[in-house]
Amino acid sequence: MKLKVAKEAAKLIKDGMVVGLGSGSTAAMFIRELGSRIEEEELTVFGIPTSFESKMLALQYGIPLVSLDEYDVDIAIDGADEVEKETLFLIKGGGGCHTMEKIVDYNAKEFVVIVDESKIKNKLSYPIPVEVLPQAYRVVMKKLKDMGGEPIIRLAERKRGPVITDNGNMIIDVSMEIDDAVSLESEINNIPGVVENGIFTKVDKVLVATKKGIKTLKK
Ligand code: A5P
Repeated sequence: MKLKVAKEAAKLIKDGMVVGLGSGSTAAMFIRELGSRIEEEELTVFGIPTSFESKMLALQYGIPLVSLDEYDVDIAIDGADEVEKETLFLIKGGGGCHTMEKIVDYNAKEFVVIVDESKIKNKLSYPIPVEVLPQAYRVVMKKLKDMGGEPIIRLAERKRGPVITDNGNMIIDVSMEIDDAVSLESEINNIPGVVENGIFTKVDKVLVATKKGIKTLKK
């Protein structure tokens, strides 16, 4: 299913485009498909990665890389941990890359999300990933508790200690009721020490792989 939607997204890329390269397993398949298209059709396409992972994959699959220093993003293709059916709001950051993802995705002329149907929910309920400066983790957790959340530090699997992001920060996963995602996205980012949170509220289109084929969700 992930491969089907990744292939569909690769078809959206046109010669000359600057493409935001998302992170996660679905985006990884998209990067591979895009690499194949560039090689087979001799396309001139540049990528802007959203993580160390997507940078390494782009290099592996022959996608030339540029940066936001010099280029605007024509289209960004990225995965998601959850998609709210009606609003197309997302939770991202299960892989800890949501800060760079949001910078690239929100600045793209078009932001397209690729998921399989298991990610589509009536209401967002996934714990919200919050990237924080290490010096601020305790005070940020306190504020998140005051807001009614249940925050936990994301711990590394093969190291004793916290997950450290591509930017050298920590991740706090906060479980909380999301009634107004747009306000909550800003409120969490207003806590001093927070770098970025994984609520995404500006999405153009979601491609969903279902058993019956690819469905497009638009607002
Ligand atoms: C990375 O930080 C996330 O935002 C990913 O985009 C998200 O976790 C989706 O990943 P999968 O495609 O592996 O489910």
